[in-house]
Amino acid sequence: MKLNEHISQLKGYPTADKFEYEVGVMSNENNYGPSPRVYAAIRAINDVNRYPDPLAEKLREKLAEYNNVPSENIVCFSGGDEAIRTILGLFLSPGKTLLGHAPTFAMYPIGAQYYGAKYEAVSLEKDFSFTQKQLDAILEKSSAASAIALCNPNNPTGNEIPLELLEKLLNAVETPVLVDEAYFEYHKQTVANRAVEGKAIVVRTLSKAFGLAGLRCGYAIAPKEIADALLKAKLVFNVNSVTQAAALAALSDLPHMHDIVEKTVADREKLFTALKEKGYSAYSSTANFVLVQDAGGELYKKLLDNKVLARQVKLPGFPPEQYVRISIGTTQENERVISLL
Ligand SMILES: Cc1ncc(COP(=O)(O)O)c(C=O)c1O
Repeated sequence: MKLNEHISQLKGYPTADKFEYEVGVMSNENNYGPSPRVYAAIRAINDVNRYPDPLAEKLREKLAEYNNVPSENIVCFSGGDEAIRTILGLFLSPGKTLLGHAPTFAMYPIGAQYYGAKYEAVSLEKDFSFTQKQLDAILEKSSAASAIALCNPNNPTGNEIPLELLEKLLNAVETPVLVDEAYFEYHKQTVANRAVEGKAIVVRTLSKAFGLAGLRCGYAIAPKEIADALLKAKLVFNVNSVTQAAALAALSDLPHMHDIVEKTVADREKLFTALKEKGYSAYSSTANFVLVQDAGGELYKKLLDNKVLARQVKLPGFPPEQYVRISIGTTQENERVISLL
């Protein structure tokens, strides 16, 4: 069978290694788990013979309240990944270009390729920061691009795009800009209000701070016209009923989420300080993980030998053994990581 050429060239998403481990710090998950209300809500479900609400109305209302934006600007997805893929489909097709920065989350180049489009990236600074230089480079290339994807905070580097630069970019371009805020709860800076004004399309997920990675729930905050297009473009029943109920329960217990975020941020700083003290080159992070230089994969191996699974990340121009990304697990797990440095 002859596949579409751009599909046959897809490399697929580089998932985490499949080793046995006791401490999983490879996928930026929330190792504390979700609010207990989530499991109670799942146990109470008794109507899976019925289709879920295709518009996820209750969930949109709840997310609107959480984000202080109108619910007409919110569209729910089966994970942030599905949100990204569907949003890119509104703008990309063969011959078009998605503009972004490198390194960043693999789903943008993969998404571009899925639609037969090109992915062009502006390099971040050597320390992975996003400065006026990157802003200027993106502005220069923006009119030739059909969409722009920015990751803030950036995965896998953990750095932010300074809000001031992001605002300048949003004000200056006509090209649609996807701003991936998967780690918003740790960073607490957002351009959600700009999305409502028609200037950005924000992607969020409940996989991280809310601890629902296995249930797949993400959402977009988008200009009304884009939200309406997404509601038509997405698969009708994309967010299943168990996920809708669980997400509502998670959002009804914000103190649980805030408590975990607070502990995670404090533990991230402890890990960062410990890494520096031990002589590692680690990158300051605004998310729930820390990227570390790990020439030869020594640290990754040492952690793995002690049943701690982190993630080797391949950054453009470097071998995969050059960097390791360590998620922040529970305080106890983080202490175990620190004891192994
Ligand atoms: C930057 C970024 N965006 C989006 C996602 C997608 O998350 P999910 O599909 O689990 O909602 C992730 C997950 O790691 C991520 O790091």
